[in-house]
Amino acid sequence: MPDTSMPPAVAPPVLEIRGLTKSFGTNIVLDGVSMQVGKGQTVCLLGPSGSGKSTLLRCVNWLEPPDQGRILLSGKLMGFRDGGVVPMNGMELARARSRIGMVFQHFNLWPHLTVLQNLIEAPIHVQGRQRDEVIGEAEVLLDRVGLADKKNAFPAHLSGGQKQRVGIARALAMRPELLLFDEPTSALDPELVGEVVAVMKILAEEGSTMLVVTHEMGFAREAADEVVLLDLGRVVEIARPTEFFTKPKTERARQFLQRYVHA
Ligand SMILES: Nc1ncnc2c1ncn2[C@@H]1O[C@H](COP(=O)(O)OP(=O)(O)O)[C@@H](O)[C@H]1O
Ligand SMILES: [Mg+2]
Repeated sequence: MPDTSMPPAVAPPVLEIRGLTKSFGTNIVLDGVSMQVGKGQTVCLLGPSGSGKSTLLRCVNWLEPPDQGRILLSGKLMGFRDGGVVPMNGMELARARSRIGMVFQHFNLWPHLTVLQNLIEAPIHVQGRQRDEVIGEAEVLLDRVGLADKKNAFPAHLSGGQKQRVGIARALAMRPELLLFDEPTSALDPELVGEVVAVMKILAEEGSTMLVVTHEMGFAREAADEVVLLDLGRVVEIARPTEFFTKPKTERARQFLQRYVHA
């Protein structure tokens, strides 16, 4: 007889943030943020400029050490011990970061490396993986983002949309558990936004685990499992996109939608 008194084991979320605070001097930028991203979920982080979205992502991959709170990656606490924040050493940091892929607004590609070299650098040198295997996987990834023919090009010879698709492929080359996007289309000319959003939609549909800061409300509506609205460093609302965009629960969310979506 199976033991029915025990609840079924539930996998922890890939990312769990609990009560995260971060200040710069007297400026409280994150004020007790709690949220999570489940496996295979796409969560869009929305909010006005200066609300703390980038700082939140930067805390998650430890580009900024948080002041207080907890960050758990697949159930495992990152960088905290005995109730306090303990700076990770170089090795711990590299190991933790290599589980998280980050896509930046300004691409941050290495200009002196070809597209293929940009993809294989970290998997070989940070993760210590086999060069041939990494190259094979990188070629498949470039094909997936529609850039197989650009593998030997240098970033300077690519359009913004192509650079960002390389940025996405580079993040994927680390086989990350979690992908973070910080306004990946904000630096692009409007006609190039679509090709990047299309790649992100495919990733979301294929079950990548993604936390996406974006002003592309179309993406949030269509691809997000959940949206989180941040304002003044606090989570104002967490909702499914259908509810968030049609019947927001808070006045603050209504104002945000009025200003950023209906304008
Ligand atoms: N490294 C830093 N030093 C000092 N202040 C910062 C730093 N990074 C961000 N801030 C401040 O934190 C606040 C939130 O910034 P940010 O997280 O970039 O917001 P968002 O991405 O939502 O626009 C802003 O007031 C910004 O000036
Ligand atoms: Mg930002």
